[in-house]
Amino acid sequence: MLPGPRFQVSGQTLSSLLREGGETMDSLKAILALMLGLSTLNIGSQAYGQAQTPAEEKKGEASQNRAALDHLLTTTRTVRKRLDLTRPVDAKIIEEAIEIAVQAPTGSNVQGWHFVVVTDPEKKKAIADLYRKGADMYANRPRSEYSADDPRAKQRAQIAKSGAYLYKHLHEVPVLVFACLEGRFEKEPQFVQASMYGSILPAAWSFMLALRARGVGAAWTTLALIHEKEVAQALGIPDNITLAVMMPVAYYKGTDFKPAKRLPAKEHTHWNTWGQHR
Ligand SMILES: Cc1cc2nc3c(=O)[nH]c(=O)nc-3n(C[C@H](O)[C@H](O)[C@H](O)COP(=O)(O)O)c2cc1C
Repeated sequence: MLPGPRFQVSGQTLSSLLREGGETMDSLKAILALMLGLSTLNIGSQAYGQAQTPAEEKKGEASQNRAALDHLLTTTRTVRKRLDLTRPVDAKIIEEAIEIAVQAPTGSNVQGWHFVVVTDPEKKKAIADLYRKGADMYANRPRSEYSADDPRAKQRAQIAKSGAYLYKHLHEVPVLVFACLEGRFEKEPQFVQASMYGSILPAAWSFMLALRARGVGAAWTTLALIHEKEVAQALGIPDNITLAVMMPVAYYKGTDFKPAKRLPAKEHTHWNTWGQHR
């Protein structure tokens, strides 16, 4: 994703997209806002026609690309309260994001992934009811305790508030997408489980990132899977399919997503021996 004359979305130039207007225009606004924050200087120098050598131009493009990718990777959040429940999501955007998702790694190149896209209001309601049933059960579990200065303790109230919003409005979200995999592996050895989940979760995350790059938000959720069998029945999903994640999908409101406060990565990075940090 590059600003200036070379900026393209799905093979189209920026100027041709701007002429088209409509929904594309809105996604572009979001993408441009994101990119303007990152690369004002580069955009400025290109816009004012300052000469750059091809090598300088390439270097500039590479660093813009990296900055844009880092931004996407660090600010793609679980979106709940900012899902726009009133604006439909074009099927083409979902299909485009799935095309990108299936570039993810897949164990033994099996490519057993499936994406079940739910837009039917009755089906969404049935799924939302199962999600709520699962969430009610989950709410009664014993909670992990964190010290007061732990970022997870500080984030808890906000996540609960945001979670409650999704709980209430899930059936109103325009699209629910399930990422699934051929096979059942709950009774298989850990190696098999790791290989199977590893063959669907990267694709699901790529799907969310691809949506975000198009101005569309999603939430990573599993609470509906507490009642996986009933969900599968409601959608005609065969018994030999594993449901890995359900992503409510909608255009997001606003553009100011920020990196989350996480536990320090260094303390969770072990060099050569567990517990050895740099
Ligand atoms: C495996 C997994 C399951 C999750 N299940 C749910 C869920 O059922 N409902 C929900 O609202 N959020 C769910 N989340 C989202 C997390 O609450 C969220 O990722 C976490 O609070 C960090 O926020 P962030 O994704 O915005 O950084 C899930 C996330 C993961 C990775």
